[in-house]
Amino acid sequence: MGKKFYLTTPIFYPNAKLHMGHAYTTVLADALARYHRLRSEETYLLTGSDENTEKVVRAAKDAGVDVKTFLDGIVSNFKSLFSSLGSSYDQFIRTSDEKIHYPGAQALWQKLVEAGDIYKSSYEGLYCVGHESFITEKELVEGKCPDHGTPPEKLKEENYFFRLSRYSGRVKDLIESGQLEITPASRQGEILSLLKEGLADISFSRPASKVTVGIPVPGDDTQRMYVWCDALSNYITAIGYGRDESSFKKYWPADLHVIGKDILRFHAAIWPAMLLSGGIPVPKRILVHGFITSGGKKMSKTLGNVIDPQELIEEYGAEAVRYYLLRHVSPFEDGDLTKESFKEVYNANLANGLGNLISRTLTMAGTLGVKLSYHPSDEEVLAVESEYTKHFENLEVNRALDLIFSRVSELDAYIQETQPFKLIKTDPEKAKKHLEYLLEELAEIAVLLRPFLPNTAESIFKALGEGKNPGALFLRKE
Ligand code: MSP
Repeated sequence: MGKKFYLTTPIFYPNAKLHMGHAYTTVLADALARYHRLRSEETYLLTGSDENTEKVVRAAKDAGVDVKTFLDGIVSNFKSLFSSLGSSYDQFIRTSDEKIHYPGAQALWQKLVEAGDIYKSSYEGLYCVGHESFITEKELVEGKCPDHGTPPEKLKEENYFFRLSRYSGRVKDLIESGQLEITPASRQGEILSLLKEGLADISFSRPASKVTVGIPVPGDDTQRMYVWCDALSNYITAIGYGRDESSFKKYWPADLHVIGKDILRFHAAIWPAMLLSGGIPVPKRILVHGFITSGGKKMSKTLGNVIDPQELIEEYGAEAVRYYLLRHVSPFEDGDLTKESFKEVYNANLANGLGNLISRTLTMAGTLGVKLSYHPSDEEVLAVESEYTKHFENLEVNRALDLIFSRVSELDAYIQETQPFKLIKTDPEKAKKHLEYLLEELAEIAVLLRPFLPNTAESIFKALGEGKNPGALFLRKE
């Protein structure tokens, strides 16, 4: 068996439609998964939905349907968006799945109990229903949660707590020693300074009487697990923790968790601490991406700048959406997308750039009957593309895609210089030589495009094999 590569997206809240930010997490993780498959690694991509939350219960109520019907509907929308985005996920975990998820979440809880890290105490604080978490006085704006615009509720209750305070130092050591790598370095710095301050214990359960959904705490039916042990544990329960030891051992530790910057603390502090407590290896690496904004602002209904990924897919095709997100957004920073910037990039780089190059080359090749004489294998191409692989190893997928598109520009310039379209009549033998070269280059480009634009890559291969113009791959949008 070759090397394995296990990577995950966060599990998404199924209380509303997915937006461009969620599409970004999905497409980014997918490109990385496809790259590792291209390297013949046994790759496993996990995604899913975070279902045991009061947010969902409220959303179902608002929609006037029971929770299960509501969730089934949303999850099927998620899956159809993921497949139209070309996500090649291997598993979609639902945390309400009592067979797949519950046994592992409960087994993990039990481990933390055995380690002496779970204790009961009373908690009093301000609770924001929108966030499903306690919120501090300091965070409030005019007495309201700044994100939800609603006043928090005062809550006092008996909870189980997790002794997170015990682990600040050890998690810090893991990160500093590189055993747990946080990319980019700026996020690593952020989490390290938090860990240096020390972490406080966290509330780990809620009274069953106060919540509608939630995994029962082992041995105490009056309590339900709170988000941490319920949601974060999906990364291990999905692959068999507490259920199928051999599958779990095969894939764990995760090679990469892909997350957005808002959930850094959960993944880089709380999650490793839980794993340490449970005697389970920690993930190897976490990629923390930025946020997608529109016109420099956070997408919001009030500003009217929300862009629905489905709309763009319908108008331009999923490959164009993947292209924009993977090339024009740096995984390490916030990235902007407006309908205007999307169209501009589409026309310039896809319709006039790649699409035009392929169509011109294959038309000329067809006229002269030139065919690709040798199809390079994926391994052969990757073996000589060290810059490309280096960018992937650094998780700078946008730079890997830059490389491909600078080759597209170079080939355009090559056609301009050598003018095979004129040579077809004056010196067909010479024209053939240029076209053979161009076809070989296109075949390499198609291999390199696989993680990014899988369908386009296939269309190029097909066209090269048949020696026919594939037609306009990307139609210009006026
Ligand atoms: N359910 C939690 C995660 C639990 S993981 C054990 C959650 N869900 S979410 O649906 O709100 O977000 C899912 C992912 O989308 C997160 O990685 C989050 O950072 C990302 N994004 C949400 N809004 C975003 C943008 N505007 N831009 C980019 N990514 C954003 O958090």
